[in-house]
Amino acid sequence: MKQFFRITVLAAAALAAPLAMAQGSKLKVGLMLPYTGTYAALGVAIENGFRLYVQEQGGKLGGREIEFVKVDDESDPSKATDNVNKLVKRDNVDVIVGTVHSGVVAAMAKVARDTGTMLIVPNAGAGVVTGAMCAPHIFRSSFSNWQPAYAMGEVAAKKGHKTAVTITHKYAAGDESVGAFKEAFEKGGGKVVKQLSLPFPGVEFQALLTEIAAAKPDAVYTFFAGGAAVKFVKDYATAGLKKGIPLYGPGFLTDGTLEAQGADAEGLFTTLHYGDSLNTPRDNAFRLAYAKAFKLQPDVYAVQGYDAGQVLGIGLAATKGDISKKADFAAAVEKTRIDSPRGAFSISKAHNPVQDIYLRQVVGKENKVIGVASKGLTDPALGCKM
Ligand code: BEZ
Repeated sequence: MKQFFRITVLAAAALAAPLAMAQGSKLKVGLMLPYTGTYAALGVAIENGFRLYVQEQGGKLGGREIEFVKVDDESDPSKATDNVNKLVKRDNVDVIVGTVHSGVVAAMAKVARDTGTMLIVPNAGAGVVTGAMCAPHIFRSSFSNWQPAYAMGEVAAKKGHKTAVTITHKYAAGDESVGAFKEAFEKGGGKVVKQLSLPFPGVEFQALLTEIAAAKPDAVYTFFAGGAAVKFVKDYATAGLKKGIPLYGPGFLTDGTLEAQGADAEGLFTTLHYGDSLNTPRDNAFRLAYAKAFKLQPDVYAVQGYDAGQVLGIGLAATKGDISKKADFAAAVEKTRIDSPRGAFSISKAHNPVQDIYLRQVVGKENKVIGVASKGLTDPALGCKM
């Protein structure tokens, strides 16, 4: 009997050991973000937001202290596989958080799927991440490229515009954004008459602006973000187009960029899942805490980083810090309404946010929310089989 008791105790101890280890050891978070190039400011805001959430939880999620390892992905798809492998194979991270660029995230999702590593995407909107490459351990805390673009297509059609020219960087995010705008705009009776693009991260817009002037559309739809968005908005105004042809886009065009764009951005309409004047207790508290911690105003990227922290926190709380329990992690995230500064949202079965898309207008240094363009918008998640 004594012998049986000893064996039972030993067996129980052996079973409990991995959990005790998991709870005791630090959780390694691999941040793969752009810290240089046109999207550098976006990467910094995401990291700040993520760190703020962890700080608010006392530095621990699911009982585990968080340790960070960082890689600058430079928004360069050709280096993406090597960069993500540095985190997974060299640094043995428990979870990857990244990235901004849709061309880079595709490689990250492939490595996450091949190795079973948890991936939380805090920006890149590539449809494939929560579409054909969806997986129980891949989550997105941001948006799909389809979501704000589709909402803007509806807005532009409702404003009575009949023709539009589109202009974007030529890569997955731009192509998907333009595609979704066109889908909704043409459903609403409009017609996209010309699609212009230039290679990422180029900012030589002059020849393309001349083409827009010659086409004389009712409206222009554009996808640019970060440094390129600053330059495009300024060049559009300098070319004299702003007065005659209204410029629309997903809110990346004016989020985190207004200081640099100045008066050239005034009055622009954009659609996005965040804005500067939500004035809810949740957002006000977040904005205050962010400003205090980083001496900066938050933007949509900061919110997405913060919410990536929330997704990880929810999953780890449910699994008591054991990130290998992927099904329990996913079940917890799927059933929780995430209390985001943007407004509460849920995560779809494909693991993309189901969220309100706001219509905003630039007023001074703010993206002022003037209404909800699309309520509880769900990405179509084409090809996702989970
Ligand atoms: C993207 O590549 O998915 C992206 C980059 C910047 C802002 C929004 C989306």
